[in-house]
Amino acid sequence: MRVNRIKSALAVLVVAASAQAPAQDAAPVARILAERCVMCHQGDAAPLGLRLDSIDSLLKGGAKGSVVKPGDPAGSELMRRLRGQSLPRMPLTGPPFLSDAEIASVEQWIAASAPRTTAAAPASAPRVRAASEPVTYADVQPILGARCAKCHAAQGRMGAAPEGYLLNNYENTLAHGDRARVVPGYPAASELVRRIRGQSTPRMPFDGPPFLSQPEIALLERWIAQGARDAQGRPAPVPAGARVRLRGTLVGPAQLDDLHFLWQGRRRDRQPASGSQAELRGTVAPDGGILAERVRGR
Ligand code: HEC
Ligand code: HEC
Repeated sequence: MRVNRIKSALAVLVVAASAQAPAQDAAPVARILAERCVMCHQGDAAPLGLRLDSIDSLLKGGAKGSVVKPGDPAGSELMRRLRGQSLPRMPLTGPPFLSDAEIASVEQWIAASAPRTTAAAPASAPRVRAASEPVTYADVQPILGARCAKCHAAQGRMGAAPEGYLLNNYENTLAHGDRARVVPGYPAASELVRRIRGQSTPRMPFDGPPFLSQPEIALLERWIAQGARDAQGRPAPVPAGARVRLRGTLVGPAQLDDLHFLWQGRRRDRQPASGSQAELRGTVAPDGGILAERVRGR
C-alpha cells in the first residue's frame, strides 16, 4: 500500500537521520539507560555492582571495572553485551534487545570519547505511591529485575532458566504454558509468593540470604492480589485450567499453609500427615480456586 511505502521511506529517513546525528552529547544513551536498563541496574543490588542510573554511573563501571573505554567501542564490555558477544546479552529483558539504530548511537557515543552530557540525565526518582493506588508491573519489575532475572532468564547465571521459568518480562512472569506460578488475584495459590516467603523450598532468591525484604514481599503479594496488572494497569485474567505445582506445609486435609484447596474427584487415601512438607499438583478453577489431583510428601 502507498501509505505503507511512505511510512517505510520515512522510517529509513528517521534511522538515517539519527545515525548521522553528531554524538556530541550523551542524551540518547541516557535515554536508553532510563528506559531499558535502570530497572535492574540500580541501588545496592545492581548486577555486578554496575549502576546505570546516570551517565556518570555508567562511566564509573561496576565491581569488575569499567565497561566503557572512551574511543574504543570494540574494546568496551558495554558494546559486547548490547550485541550479545558477551553473555547474557543486555538488556536481560530481551528479546526485544536494542534496535540497530540504538546500538549504533551508543557505539558512536563511545567512539566520540564518551562525553558526559551537559543536559541532566533523566533520573529515576523513586515514585511516591498512595496506598490506594493499584500496584502494577512497573512497581515490581525493579525487584524481579535486580533479584530474580539474573537466573530466570534465557541465558542466566545458571544457564537455561531454572524450571524453564523466565522472570525477565511481564509476559514470561505470567506465562502458564507448562504451569502457572502466578495466579492473578490469588497470592496463596501462586508459587512465586510461596517461594519468596519461604513457605515453599528452596526459598527464592536461590542465592539468598539476603532474601527479599518484608516490604518487597508485601508489594509482590499486593501486585498479585490486585490481579497482577501490567505496566499500563490492566489486570490479568485467571488462567482457568492451567496446571500448578505448589509446595508448602500441609496443615489440614485440604489446606496448604494459607491455601484452602478442593479435591478433584475422589479424595486420595495415602495423604501425608498434617504438619508435613508436601507438594500439590492440580489445576486452577475458573474462580481462582485450586483443584488438587495429588498431594505428596516431600
Ligand atoms: C532484567 C534485568 C536487567 C536489565 C533490564 C539489564 N541488565 Fe545488564 N545485567 C543484568 C544482570 C543480572 C547482569 C549480570 C550478568 C552476569 O552475571 O554476567 C548484567 C550485566 C551487565 C553488564 C556487564 C557488567 C560487567 O561488569 O561485566 C553490562 C555492561 C550491562 N549489564 C549493561 C546493561 C545495559 C546497557 C542494559 C540496558 C540496555 C542492561 N544491562 C539491562 C541485569 C539486567
Ligand atoms: C541464583 C539463581 C536464582 C535466583 C537469583 C532466583 N532463582 Fe528462582 N529458582 C532457581 C532455581 C535453581 C530453582 C529451582 C529450584 C528447585 O525447585 O529445585 C528456582 C525455582 C523458582 C520457582 C519455582 C518455579 C516452578 O516452576 O515452580 C519460582 C517461582 C522462582 N524460582 C521464583 C524466583 C523469584 C521470584 C526470584 C527473585 C526474588 C528468584 N526465583 C531468584 C534459581 C534462582
